[in-house]
Amino acid sequence: MTVSSAPGKVYLFGEHAVVYGEPAVPCAIERRARVTAEKRSDGKLLVHAEDLSLDGFTVEYSGESETHPDVDVSESLLEAAMGYVDAAVAQARDAADAPDAGFEVTIESDIPLGAGLGSSAAVTVAGIDAATRELGVELAPEELADRAYRAEYEVQDGQASRADTFCSAMGGAVRVEGDDCRRIDAPDIPFVIGFDGGAGDTGKLVAGVRELREEYGFAADTVGTIGDIVSEGERVLAAAENPDGDWIAELGDLMDFNHGLLESLGVSSRSLDAMVWAARDAGAYGAKLTGAGGGGCIVALDETEETETALKFTPGCEEAFRAELATEGVRRE
Ligand code: MEV
Repeated sequence: MTVSSAPGKVYLFGEHAVVYGEPAVPCAIERRARVTAEKRSDGKLLVHAEDLSLDGFTVEYSGESETHPDVDVSESLLEAAMGYVDAAVAQARDAADAPDAGFEVTIESDIPLGAGLGSSAAVTVAGIDAATRELGVELAPEELADRAYRAEYEVQDGQASRADTFCSAMGGAVRVEGDDCRRIDAPDIPFVIGFDGGAGDTGKLVAGVRELREEYGFAADTVGTIGDIVSEGERVLAAAENPDGDWIAELGDLMDFNHGLLESLGVSSRSLDAMVWAARDAGAYGAKLTGAGGGGCIVALDETEETETALKFTPGCEEAFRAELATEGVRRE
């Protein structure tokens, strides 16, 4: 039996634009998905998922099952979750050159599904790591990130960047621009997260931005401007050691700008906007949605308790919490 965990993430800057080759800076946070893999001799895949912010479910299938599991959860979320586990196991079989390997897989996660905190990437990264190690093969984090990206790419019909999977595998703050991914230095950033209890449909939201971008030159410019914000944000992070600078306030201004542009691209929602404004009114340095949008989470910067408290009293906000930067990516548990 092998157990691995991998962190979720927030986007400090750059979601959506990263799909078109602009840079993005996601940061891993201390909320983890834990995956346990145990070999089975019958070649089947048995999956238990107890805490994916959906009702718990257990599914037995061979990967080719025509019958849908009889569980009381949204079909699309269930299919998405199963799709990632399936794709992760396929990558592990390939990496270990064991095409017929069967597994019993248990997933526990404190990252809400589809909420913009990188739950699918964390499950995929931890799943590949646990299943390959269970087969006696140890992959370097870079290879894990690459295989997890390929798994996500397949499940998301080719609409995935390397950002989520690289960040989850490596931990810390990372910079992603196309295939160029690396860790960058970052100070301790005071993240506060608000969650509306919902989930956006990443595929649909990415497709919506693609259509706008193809139809209107100014939408394409908006995507490019998000890239400019990311570059400015990187400069602020790199200068954060300078005692004369006000790096948190500068990051906050850039986050506000980034949120406005995401809103104009149609990926925000009433509840996300309400949480963003509640955070700003409470004195946060800045706030923006994180991830694909449509529902899910916002991220704000505040060293005090004010934003977290204000979010807890904001209609539409189901949960608010502080999140530390996770300096460690995927790890053996
Ligand atoms: C989803 O977490 C982030 C998007 O930029 C899609 C991606 O990068 O794969 C919307």
